Amino acid sequence: MIREFGARGLDLARSVPDIEAMTDPRPLSPNPETLEFLLSRRSRPPRMLGPEVPDDATLRNLLTAALRVPDHGKLEPWRLIVVRRAAIERLAALTRTRGAELGISPERIEKDASGFDTAHLIVAVISAPKPSDKVPETEQYASAASACLSLLNATLASGWGAVWLTGWRATDRTFLTQGLDLFPHETVAGFIHIGNEIRTPPDRPRPDVDALTTWIDE
Ligand SMILES: Cc1cc2nc3c(=O)[nH]c(=O)nc-3n(C[C@H](O)[C@H](O)[C@H](O)COP(=O)(O)O)c2cc1C
Repeated sequence: MIREFGARGLDLARSVPDIEAMTDPRPLSPNPETLEFLLSRRSRPPRMLGPEVPDDATLRNLLTAALRVPDHGKLEPWRLIVVRRAAIERLAALTRTRGAELGISPERIEKDASGFDTAHLIVAVISAPKPSDKVPETEQYASAASACLSLLNATLASGWGAVWLTGWRATDRTFLTQGLDLFPHETVAGFIHIGNEIRTPPDRPRPDVDALTTWIDE
C-alpha cells in the first residue's frame, strides 16, 4: 500500500484528500481499499524513515484525521505538538542529559537518543485529561491513544512511513516540562515519528484472531 516517494517526483502534497472539505453526511458504503489497508498496514521503525516529511498543509490534514476520534463526553482530552528538526535535536540532547541523571544505562540512552538524532518530524500526541465526574481518566487516555493510532494510520495511508513510540520520555516529569513545556497533568500518549520510507520492514507474526476471540450467543 505504501507508494513510492518524492525523490521519484510524486507530488506528496496531493497524497491526502482535503478532509475539511468532506463535511457532507455520506451514507455508508463499502470501501474495500480502506479495508485492505487496515488488513495489511504496518509501522515503519525509525531506522527505516528518511528525511523527507509532509509539507505543512498535508500534515495539517493528517492532524485533522488524528483528532477525529471517539471522545466520551466531548472532552477533547488531548492536544498535539509538532516537533520539527531543531526542536528534535534539543530533545535528543535532553535525552542524553536527563537519561544520565536517571541512571539509565549508556547503551539504552544512545538507543533512545538515536531515534531522535535521525528524526525530521515527530508529532507528540499529548494526553491532557479534563476534570469529569462522568468520564474516567482511563477512558480519556483511551481517546488519546486512539488519536495516536488515527495519526499513524492516516500517515501510512498517505504513503508516508510512521511509527508510534513512547518509553521513559513519555512520562518523565522533568523531560516533559523541560522538553515540551507540558502541564503537570499531561503526559505523552505517543511520539509519532514521520518520514519517507527508505526500506520496507518485513511483517511480524500477527495475532491468531480465532485464539483470541470468543463468540457468545446466549
Ligand atoms: C503505546 C505504544 C508504545 C510503544 N512504544 C515503543 C517504543 O518506545 N519503542 C519501540 O521500539 N516500540 C514501541 N512500540 C511498538 C512500535 O510502535 C511497533 O513498531 C509497533 O508495535 C509495530 O506494530 P504495527 O506494525 O502493527 O504498526 C509502541 C507501541 C505502542 C502501542
